[in-house]
Amino acid sequence: MSTNSQMLTGKSALITGASSGVGACAAHVFAREGASVVLMARREERLAAVAEDVRRAGGRAEYVVGDVASSSDMARAVKTAVECFGGLDVAFNNAGVGAHQTPLHLTGEDEYDEIMDTNVRGVWNGLSHQVRAMLRGGGGAVVNNSSVAGLVATPVSAAFIAAKHAVIGLTRAAAAEYGAQGIRINAIAPGIAGSEVVQEWFSRHPEAEKLLHRSTPQPRTPEPQEVAEAAAWLCSDRASFVTGVVLPVDGGFTVL
Ligand SMILES: NC(=O)c1ccc[n+]([C@@H]2O[C@H](COP(=O)([O-])OP(=O)(O)OC[C@H]3O[C@@H](n4cnc5c(N)ncnc54)[C@H](O)[C@@H]3O)[C@@H](O)[C@H]2O)c1
Repeated sequence: MSTNSQMLTGKSALITGASSGVGACAAHVFAREGASVVLMARREERLAAVAEDVRRAGGRAEYVVGDVASSSDMARAVKTAVECFGGLDVAFNNAGVGAHQTPLHLTGEDEYDEIMDTNVRGVWNGLSHQVRAMLRGGGGAVVNNSSVAGLVATPVSAAFIAAKHAVIGLTRAAAAEYGAQGIRINAIAPGIAGSEVVQEWFSRHPEAEKLLHRSTPQPRTPEPQEVAEAAAWLCSDRASFVTGVVLPVDGGFTVL
């Protein structure tokens, strides 16, 4: 086990959905903790800017423009980590799309497909390619970004709740399957995090933020970095005997 004060020294890390919000914060947190990071998302300009910020702060970063729902794009991202940083030690499958509060019977197939493709197939693709690289490298750690909507039926669309439950199912199944081969697989379940999309939504629905705070023992909206910190710890050797867990990062929302 590493005794370095940085948690991810010498690790090669892949972070999906790294162009904004939790993923962009994770790029900085993982690099601060000593990881070399490969950042994947669809928006090149924003992704390049995050990678440049990481480098300016003294970190090592590459980026890959791609869609997590595409197996070949994910393969390219993993290959980049292997070629640029000598392997893949940790991965944070963070990319996801949110959902409107559309009632189930009014949710169109396109909306269902988009939610499932990014939030479930994206994690599936990630696990598939990341595990292959980690098996070749002798082990690793993956964290999948679910949501409290993966644990309980929060007031968002049923398709989103189903998708985030599926992320937890994939996490548990993969943890059981690969534990003996040195690969730990965990999930985080954020309640709310103050990423741009969420702040924008709160600015249009201030009553929703107040309502959420009333249902949360820690009554505030956390910075996206606070979510990224939990993912970094689970990816690190400090969580060396932790696998298959779903860690709520929700200020206590799910204890009530
Ligand atoms: N912010 C919250 O309140 C909150 C709460 C619970 C769970 N989460 C989860 O955290 C994760 C990050 O959310 P966020 O709030 O930072 O949102 P965000 O919209 O700022 O970030 C999502 C990232 O994923 C990328 N992305 C979306 N679809 C993609 C695709 N098909 N291929 C590649 N990249 C894609 C986006 O470009 C962006 O970089 C998501 O999985 C979300 O469900 C967020």
